[in-house]
Amino acid sequence: MTDRASLDPDDWERFREQAHGLLDAAIDRMRDAAAHPWQPVPEAVRRACAIGAGKGGLAERLVSEVLPYHGGNPHPRFWGWVQGTGLASDMLAAIAGAAINANVGGRDHGAVYLERAVVDWTRRQMGLPEGASGVLVSGTSQATVIAFAAARLRALGAGVRRRGQAGAPLVAYAGQGVHNATRKAVELLGIGSDNLRLVPSREGRMDPQALRAQVAADRAAGRIPFLVVATAGSVDLGLFDDLNAVADVAVDEGLWLHVDGAFGAWIRLADPPWCDLGEGIERADSIALDFHKWMYVGYDCGLVLIRDESEHRAAFAARPAYLKGAEHGLAGGEPWYCDYGIDLSRGNRALRVWCALESLGREAFARAITGNCRAALRMHEEVSARPAMAPGPRPVANVCVFSARGGLDGRAQSALNARIARVLQERGEAVFSTTDLDGVTVLRAAITNHRTTERDVVAAVAAVEAVAAELVGPG
Ligand SMILES: Cc1ncc(COP(=O)(O)O)c(C=O)c1O
Repeated sequence: MTDRASLDPDDWERFREQAHGLLDAAIDRMRDAAAHPWQPVPEAVRRACAIGAGKGGLAERLVSEVLPYHGGNPHPRFWGWVQGTGLASDMLAAIAGAAINANVGGRDHGAVYLERAVVDWTRRQMGLPEGASGVLVSGTSQATVIAFAAARLRALGAGVRRRGQAGAPLVAYAGQGVHNATRKAVELLGIGSDNLRLVPSREGRMDPQALRAQVAADRAAGRIPFLVVATAGSVDLGLFDDLNAVADVAVDEGLWLHVDGAFGAWIRLADPPWCDLGEGIERADSIALDFHKWMYVGYDCGLVLIRDESEHRAAFAARPAYLKGAEHGLAGGEPWYCDYGIDLSRGNRALRVWCALESLGREAFARAITGNCRAALRMHEEVSARPAMAPGPRPVANVCVFSARGGLDGRAQSALNARIARVLQERGEAVFSTTDLDGVTVLRAAITNHRTTERDVVAAVAAVEAVAAELVGPG
């Protein structure tokens, strides 16, 4: 072995200089985010992505080939899908995180304590009791799989890990607006999406009476109801199930209550009346949520919280001899996070969240989340004030949907809205995505963006109106 085998830079001072240049460029881009909307990746840059095809020093290439081609979400007028904005503190976390390269599967080192602090802080925000467990994951999709695995183990016993489900006719329940992540999780765990009942809604919320009736019908047919999924913040319209009403049914029927709070769980931080929408989440057996959406933290970072630590651990703990823990030394640090989820090797996701909370504090997030709810209402009012436009339902939280032009038939409205979304994206004016409302494709803004101001909202609605006039004439 010689020093030449090392992959470290030959010249650390030169590396330092380049890294400082890159950091300056990255800070400038974030400071000037409003001047940098999404843009398509030019053919030359796509070609330069091929390994070995690029030219120039790495830091220069990161500035010219990577920084400009983000997915639009750092921009203040980005409201597509449900994507977070990112935070300046993410940059500091990335630097410190790269320097220590922590594997947080387990053992006794600093990153483990950061993750414990983040899990515990979030547990308290959600009102779960002390002793509840949690593990940071890639996002709500993975958190959902982990939660459902624990729910299944409660229903079928620990033997399910060896025997598999062995044909046990488990049935899960969710409201009609449930996210696809729930469907994927029941498929992955072998429960099967045919055994996910979509319970009818009443006024946009899962109907508890219909849930009780479905459970009774399944029991009568010899099936095993085991899990109900309530949604805190539905992806299409940002609606919230009545969490207390669903929790009452879960208690009466002996169902595991899981709350999909991917973004909406954070409504608990908002001012009244919005925070009331999150009431009852504290009664959940498990909660899936993301920091990378409505806590604005850089990708990726989700969390699963499980009320009963022993049920969480029972579903995942497994340590071969080479992973044996110890009382002291590096192999200490029990409990290890690998015993609470799918991954053995795990990155230091907590560092980004910890940096965000320590630098900004809870109240800054509460203000930003409340501000996003106000922005959605403002957008709804702006649309409502323009006679040619057709507002959707009044936003309950941070999601606003509308049609650029009422008075057209459904097909024409759908085509127009889809076209406007694309034109505004391509011109770098604003990013809306679309969804279906009563069979019509509508413009949809899911505002999880701490950079959005009232001016952005007003300007974006005016831009929609202007593009509609270009495409189909004045209203
Ligand atoms: C309500 C809801 N649940 C689950 C998910 C999936 O979350 P993730 O993308 O973090 O896996 C989303 C994503 O938008 C969502 O809005």
